[in-house]
Amino acid sequence: MTDYKKTIADAIEKVTDIDSQVLEDYIEIPPDRTLGDYSFPCFKLARELKKAPQMIAQEIKDNIEVDNSIIEKIEIVGGYLNLYINKKDLVNTVLREIHKKKEDYGKQTIGNGQTIVIDYSSPNIAKPFHIGHLRSTVIGGALYNIYKFLGYKTIGINHIGDYGTQFAKLIEGYKRWGNEYDIKNNPIDELTKIYVRINELCKEDESVLEECRNNFKKLEDGDEYCTKLWNEFRSLSLKEFEKVYDLLGSKFDSFNGEAFYSDKMREVIEKLDASGKLVESEGAKVIKLDEQNMAPCLIIKSNGSTTYATRDLAAILYRARTYDYTKAIYVTSYEQSLHFKQVFEVAKLLGLDSKYTDNLIHVPFGMIHLKTGKMSTREGNVVKLEDLLNEAISRSKEIIENKNPELENKDDVARKVGVGAVIFNDLANNRIKDEIFDWNQILNFNGETGPYIQYMYVRTKSILEKAPLPQIEEIDTEKLLDNESIQVMQKLYEFEQILRDAADKNEPSILSRYLIDLSSCFSAFYNEHHIIGEEVSIQNARLCLIYACNIVLKTGARITRDKHARKNVINVAI
Ligand code: ARG
Repeated sequence: MTDYKKTIADAIEKVTDIDSQVLEDYIEIPPDRTLGDYSFPCFKLARELKKAPQMIAQEIKDNIEVDNSIIEKIEIVGGYLNLYINKKDLVNTVLREIHKKKEDYGKQTIGNGQTIVIDYSSPNIAKPFHIGHLRSTVIGGALYNIYKFLGYKTIGINHIGDYGTQFAKLIEGYKRWGNEYDIKNNPIDELTKIYVRINELCKEDESVLEECRNNFKKLEDGDEYCTKLWNEFRSLSLKEFEKVYDLLGSKFDSFNGEAFYSDKMREVIEKLDASGKLVESEGAKVIKLDEQNMAPCLIIKSNGSTTYATRDLAAILYRARTYDYTKAIYVTSYEQSLHFKQVFEVAKLLGLDSKYTDNLIHVPFGMIHLKTGKMSTREGNVVKLEDLLNEAISRSKEIIENKNPELENKDDVARKVGVGAVIFNDLANNRIKDEIFDWNQILNFNGETGPYIQYMYVRTKSILEKAPLPQIEEIDTEKLLDNESIQVMQKLYEFEQILRDAADKNEPSILSRYLIDLSSCFSAFYNEHHIIGEEVSIQNARLCLIYACNIVLKTGARITRDKHARKNVINVAI
């Protein structure tokens, strides 16, 4: 495919003697394409060339050598050089590339030989899987696929919260009232009830709390009864989580949660001790982070037990050694930003090569608020993810009943649309923004939603079913030079860069916004132009364009979700 930025940068290098790599980074895409497809801000070179931007622009324009079958026009506006690419070349290069590579269009090799560890989803055992974990699951899953498409080896880790005093409390509650609850059939709800009840008792009776602490110690020491119960709670919870993962289509490479590190924390403590920075504070052991303007990081509590942070430190050691990662990413809500800042700072004391500690990245996201009020466990109006997904499915079914009562497989389609809509909603906006969860918005088929993209994808598909796809070599590219076609081509061309940007910023919404934009460009094209029944050369050229849209919409949508959901979410006909 013609690399326009590089072509332009190489040509400017010849005139200015400035390295083309540097120049390439300066090249911009004007927001208003009537000002050119690319623009070069000459003021960036003013200092180095000791000339006014306007003069630099004129000199480049006068001396640049570019093939005008690639760049057809250059204009100077202010200190900018605006360059217009040859639209025929654009059409040719985009269509040929997509027809040649098909579903591999956009795939890259920049990540070859590098590993990215992504810690995401990570719900807590014996507690409900809530909407925040959904966000982590969806954003983490999308990043996983984006990096993979760029050639990285990706490791998806579900750092399950399966350790800590809450288990000791659960064990105590279960010991007392286990037979009153139907844990086998409804594990999370029933365990939650036990947890609430024992917590109340602990508040009233200090000696019960003491019992719980003993249980925790026993658990840590490998006591048979406690370990057996812990194992049971864990596997029952995981089974429940699997239901949600199945609906979402999420897959992980590892379920090593917090408990996995129980025997690996001693080394962390030894290393921190050896660093001389581990200090006593009110009976606890902490690493002070005054210099970094942060509260101390608690490593050992005054009762001797380790913390969430200690386990994260052990996980860093383990992951560096096991995966030799280039980057380790953590996807959680911004509520944990301080936790990760502290942990990443303390990790520098573990004696690891700095390539590991310099590349720990927290990817925070905003909170989700329900339109009906805020979510809180204490107020008892927590929204369980399974219920939410089921509601999405039943609401979609209602819409489908209204829109297309004749449709076969309504249930299947409703599942694909409903789940797809909820997933897409989590990816649609800049991840750091708080979000209001609003059904009408999520399921709006004409809004910036998952169903809208699915709808456009299905349109491309049904047109392609009506006529055979011509050979790309045989089409007349002159027939695709109208505004709407060119806008589609420009979008299709951007795909590779969009994927790189999404990875650079760890921001899957860059890809989702792109898919919305591509869908709108396609829709504008489709509303303006006939396809089937047009003169053959026009029909064929337009079919090729639609095929290209179909491929990129499909590939892009697949990347936004996990592996086996792919076949679930796409391919719907409404
Ligand atoms: N279990 C935690 C929670 O639900 C998230 C864990 C995130 N990952 C980590 N390595 N700390 O809040």
